[in-house]
Amino acid sequence: MYFLLGVAATGTGEFIREGVRKPYIVYNFVLGNNVLVSQVPSLRATGYLNGGIWTKALVRTTHPTVIGSDGNIMDSALAGLSATDRTGIGRVLFQYHCNDCHSERGFSGIAELTRGWNKEMIHTVVTHLDKAHFFMPPWCGTATEAAILTDYIMTLSAPSPSGMKFSSFPFSVQESFTAQKTGKER
Ligand code: HEC
Repeated sequence: MYFLLGVAATGTGEFIREGVRKPYIVYNFVLGNNVLVSQVPSLRATGYLNGGIWTKALVRTTHPTVIGSDGNIMDSALAGLSATDRTGIGRVLFQYHCNDCHSERGFSGIAELTRGWNKEMIHTVVTHLDKAHFFMPPWCGTATEAAILTDYIMTLSAPSPSGMKFSSFPFSVQESFTAQKTGKER
């Protein structure tokens, strides 16, 4: 009995804590993906993977060919990787940029959240996270990294339930979706 009460109390507390946290761990200072707000512009320019001690060390071990003579990950080399290597890098991006709040499948699972989405829809949300939902941090990587993460999410994304003829909709679902997600740019 007391155990159940304890579970209920902890669950409620965690739910509220999760709800109030929003995109920040510390408001206006540290984002939910453990990145400082002040770091976002440089991460977008030089790469999310380059910006993290562990991400950089990991990529250096798993994909040494993308490391330049200055010891940094070369964005152009990432773009030229094989599909299998892109999946590996995409997974690292997911683990370090999204996994604090999302799992791959299950609770807040990205597979379920992107059910039936096409590549363009996923890419739109990846590059406009904070516009899609205000409680997500802004995208903190390069355009190449966004493309690689999009491809990775495509490998997870669950298909739409079968038996429904989505193609017979009288309007383009994707067009209205993209307009909705990007139209509120300020
Ligand atoms: C600070 C926490 C946080 C981080 C970090 C985060 N998200 Fe989210 N995201 C959420 C929450 C909360 C939702 C609302 C859906 C839910 O209940 O999980 C959401 C929703 C989504 C959705 C569904 C959007 C829609 O319109 O239906 C997608 C897709 C998504 N996130 C992708 C990502 C990706 C990709 C990353 C990493 C690049 C990421 N998120 C990082 C908290 C986060």
